[in-house]
Amino acid sequence: MGMVELGVNIDHVATIRQARRTFEPDPVAAAVLAELAGADGITVHLREDRRHIQDRDIRVLKETIQTKFNFELSCAPAIIDLACQVLPDQATLVPEKREEVTTEGGLDLVSDPEKASVAIKRLQDSGIPVALFLDPEEKQIEQAKKLGAYAVELHTGQYALATGKSIQVELDRLTRAGKWIVERGMKLHAGHGLNYHNVTPVAAIEHMLELNIGHAIISRAVLVGLRQAVSEMKDLLRPFGAIKRI
Ligand code: PXP
Repeated sequence: MGMVELGVNIDHVATIRQARRTFEPDPVAAAVLAELAGADGITVHLREDRRHIQDRDIRVLKETIQTKFNFELSCAPAIIDLACQVLPDQATLVPEKREEVTTEGGLDLVSDPEKASVAIKRLQDSGIPVALFLDPEEKQIEQAKKLGAYAVELHTGQYALATGKSIQVELDRLTRAGKWIVERGMKLHAGHGLNYHNVTPVAAIEHMLELNIGHAIISRAVLVGLRQAVSEMKDLLRPFGAIKRI
């Protein structure tokens, strides 16, 4: 069995901060804690609309991440410029539509290879290894190889949404795509919608190297951390007559 690395996506820590446009919670602090807990890498997506991660986060994270800084980004020239200045350990190119709730599908390299090709070349010229976020389709993977990608991150969203018999169908698609990626000499990554219930079959795919997981981990952090957070606030109020309830 190979060694699977966990990239923790901390975008949603910034989502909570941006809900109030305040200083907390700071994704930089989250990155430190994730690394102390064993994360092998930290992933952030700087969206063109800046809905969660901000430019400042990218710059500070570059200075503070001790593991692997995986910068997720679209092919937009201004964002590519920023990546070339910051020099993360890895860039993962993703499609981006302003109105989507989250990244809905993989990049379409077949109908629009030019946009990705320019972005890949600029990142590679700056010495940044490039991963491409793709649906598990052979024609996309073939094109990724032609464009010189270092790795393909398979979009596991369809698998995560599947129910009943389709779960195995989607898993088989991912396994087959994983083979095509490795046969072509690229590294195999996966992510999107992975959680505590569905992650292990994906981790078991041969040659799986990196899993990027965000929503499930941040969601769990909110719930497992809430008890302590309330208790600490209650401690603060005890000198003022707050009573202990447990
Ligand atoms: N990988 C990529 C390329 C993504 O765009 C995302 C979502 O930002 C993730 C992984 C993490 O997905 P999730 O938050 O569903 O775990």
